Amino acid sequence: MPNIRLATQGVDQLEVDLLAVPVYKDGAAGAGADVVAKKLGIKLKDLLDQSRFKGDFGEALTVPTYGKLPSKQVLFVGLGDKAEVKAREIRRAGALVARRAGAAKSVGTTIPQAGKGNADELCSAFAEGVFLGSYRFDRYKASSNGDKPKSSVDHIEIIAAKGWDAKRVSKSVDRAKVIADATSLARDLTNTPALDKSPQSLADEARRIAKGTSITIKVLDEKQLEAGGFGGLIGVGRGSRKPPRLIEMTYKPAGAKKHIALIGKGITFDSGGLDIKTQGMDWMKTDMAGAGVVLGTMQAIAALKPKVAVTGIITTAENMPGGNALHPGDVITIRGGKTVEVGNTDAEGRLVMSDGIVYAKEKKADLIIDIATLTGACMVALGSKMFGVFSNNDRLATDLISAASRAGEMAWHLPLNKEYRKDIDSDIADLKNIGGRYGGAITAALFLAEFAGETDWAHLDIAGPARSESDDYEVPKGSTGVGVRTLVDWLTSQ
Ligand code: BES
Ligand code: MN
Ligand code: ZN
Repeated sequence: MPNIRLATQGVDQLEVDLLAVPVYKDGAAGAGADVVAKKLGIKLKDLLDQSRFKGDFGEALTVPTYGKLPSKQVLFVGLGDKAEVKAREIRRAGALVARRAGAAKSVGTTIPQAGKGNADELCSAFAEGVFLGSYRFDRYKASSNGDKPKSSVDHIEIIAAKGWDAKRVSKSVDRAKVIADATSLARDLTNTPALDKSPQSLADEARRIAKGTSITIKVLDEKQLEAGGFGGLIGVGRGSRKPPRLIEMTYKPAGAKKHIALIGKGITFDSGGLDIKTQGMDWMKTDMAGAGVVLGTMQAIAALKPKVAVTGIITTAENMPGGNALHPGDVITIRGGKTVEVGNTDAEGRLVMSDGIVYAKEKKADLIIDIATLTGACMVALGSKMFGVFSNNDRLATDLISAASRAGEMAWHLPLNKEYRKDIDSDIADLKNIGGRYGGAITAALFLAEFAGETDWAHLDIAGPARSESDDYEVPKGSTGVGVRTLVDWLTSQ
C-alpha cells in the first residue's frame, strides 16, 4: 500500500507522476484546478467542455501536461455538488484516484481540501479510500499479466491547506492504514476458496494475529466442543471432514470498565447440508465473512488499543452433506441446554451462532455484537449494499448505524417483532431453526435473541453487502470486508 504524507508545495510546484485535483458540478474549480488549467494555457471551463466533463461525482479526466507543470499528468476528479462533499465523498474520491492511477508511481492531490470537515477527518477518509480502493485479490493468478495489475502507486502527497497540522494528519492516516489492513485481511480470508480453508485454518489465522500482541487466544477443538455441549457447532460440522472449532481471542486492557463480545459466523463453506442449496452455492465460500470481520477487527484492536475489553469469538464449521450429516427433523442441544428442531439444515448459521452467544454470556460480556451472513431474506429486504441491524436495545442499534455512517458503510435498523416469535416454535423441541415463508431475516434474529436473553445484544446480518458484484469506489468486486470499519469505529468511540 502506498505511503501517504502532507506536502507543502502548491500544485504548480509539486513534481509527481499524477496530480489529482477536484472539480465540482458545472465545472466549478476545486482547490488548485484553475491554477493547473492556467499553467496548461487554457481556461478550465474550455478544457472541461472539450472533454464533455461536467464535474459530476465519479467523473474523471486525465490530461498530459507536456512539461507545462512539474507533474506529468493531471487527473480532474468530479465531486458533484460542493455542498454535499463530506468525508464519504472524499473517501470515494480517494478510491477513484487509486483505481485511475494507472502506471503512476507518485500521486499528488488537493482533493481532501475539497470537503467539509476537519483536516484529519478528510485526509484519513481520502487515505482510507486509496488503501481500500487499491485492494486486489491476485494470489491465485499464476502470472502477473492478469487484466488488472496491482496498483503501482508507492507514494501520495496530500497538498495541505493553510493551518493543517501535519502531526495530527499523519496520525489519522496511520489509523486509516490500520483499518484498511484489517479490512483487507477480512477480504482475503473471505475470498479464499473453500478448498483452501477450514475451521482449523481460521484458528491458525487467529493465532498469527494474536502473536506478539496483548491478545490471547484459545481454541476449542471438536472433542472439547462435544464434551462442552456445543451442539450447534457439532451438529452443523457433522457432514464435513473438516471438524468445527470455537476460537476465542481476548483483549483486556488494564482498567477496562466494559466487556464487549464480538461473535463472527465462520461457515467456511455452506452447501446447505442435506437440504442442499439449489441456488447460489457458488458463492458460499464467503459464508465465513462474519468470522473474517471479527479477525480483522481484532487485528485493528491490537494496534488501536481501545479502552474496552473485547472478546472475539468465532464459531466455525463447514456445512456439508454426508453419511454422518444432520438430518432435517433432528433435534440438537445448544450449549446451555436449549433444544432445537432442525427444520432445515441450510439454516445452519443460527445454530453455530447461538453456541457462540451462550459462550459469550458465560464469559460475562456486558454487551454482545454478532455479525453473520445469516439470511438471503436480509439481502432481499435491504439489497446488496446495506446490512441489517437488529438489537434488544434501540440505543445500541442507533449507535451502530451512526458508526457505520461515519465509517462509510451502510446499515439499516430492522425490527425484532415479537409477533413473529411463534413462527419459530417447534412441536417437539424448545425452538425450530426456520420460520414461515416471510420475514426470514427477522425470524432468524428472533432465534438468536432467545439466546441473548437480557444481555445487551445486536445482530448484524451482512448477507447482502459481504460481497459485491462490481467494483464500487472503495468496495471491490468479490468479498468486501463490510463490518470491519463499523465495528472499529464503534469500539474506539466507547
Ligand atoms: N449462508 C446463508 C445465507 C446467505 C444467503 C448468505 C445468500 C449470503 C447470500 C444461510 O446459511 C442460509 O442458507 N440461509 C437460508 C435460511 C433458510 C433455509 C431458512 C436462506 O437465507 O435461504
Ligand atoms: Mn445455509
Ligand atoms: Zn450459511
